[in-house]
Amino acid sequence: MKRRSFVKKTFQWVAGLGLVTGLYSWQIEPFWMQFVYLKMPLKNLPDSLVGKTVMQISDVHIGNSFDYQYIIDSFKEAQELNPDFVVYTGDYVTYEDNEQLNQLQEVLKSVVKGALGTIGILGNHDYGIDFVEDDVAQKITKSLEDVGVTMLRNDAIEINGLNFLGMDDFWGSNFYPEKATAKYNPEKANITLCHNPDVCDLPVWNNFNGWILSGHTHGGQVKPPFLPALILPVKNKNYDAGIKDLKDGRTLYINSALGCLRQVRFNVRPEITVFELMKKV
Ligand SMILES: [Fe+2]
Repeated sequence: MKRRSFVKKTFQWVAGLGLVTGLYSWQIEPFWMQFVYLKMPLKNLPDSLVGKTVMQISDVHIGNSFDYQYIIDSFKEAQELNPDFVVYTGDYVTYEDNEQLNQLQEVLKSVVKGALGTIGILGNHDYGIDFVEDDVAQKITKSLEDVGVTMLRNDAIEINGLNFLGMDDFWGSNFYPEKATAKYNPEKANITLCHNPDVCDLPVWNNFNGWILSGHTHGGQVKPPFLPALILPVKNKNYDAGIKDLKDGRTLYINSALGCLRQVRFNVRPEITVFELMKKV
């Protein structure tokens, strides 16, 4: 093969591969939800909750940046798993204006609920465009409560011996996490819902021992093979996705999000996490 024709062929291959990767990242992976199944060992778990499931749904980002029928379809698939608890860890919308409140209500007709309890917290995007609009946060809270989601805003709720703590968002205007961790009960099994994993590095935890469920990073959405994610909206770049043992009795899980901010994903599939509760020995 002549050198010129070799260069031309190589260029065509690279261009073709780029086109296929681009199409995949735009049209396939953002809508290719996977259920991620994990065990959740918890201290003081009551016998009656061994084997029960906690489903985590995070960052659905309802709005105009992708076709949210995909979220409705994913919710319907999730309902078929009959979870015992469902927790929502924030960023229900990508807020532009009040249209997102109507879009969210449409999606919430298919809300996934747990047989024993359904709990939610807010993320930064639930506070409007600049993350400081309290009236938007209140409207989103009400929409969720209207369909039976117990919203924890720096508060806690105990259900069947399992204590859920819920923090309001770090970047929002109602971040008082100590109000939630004041309700940490070392005699019970405890799970904290906390949208932004950077909060794990703040001195607000009141010796918390248990699991922390977060979202916010979306796993970076784009992760070149063998390399870190390109963009992570956290200070601690170790907090990308998955399980992080914080080595002090806290185990952090960072969900890679069900929705997305921009319709692009590569090597970070959207997820719904299903934890099976077990006793920690
Ligand atoms: Fe998000």
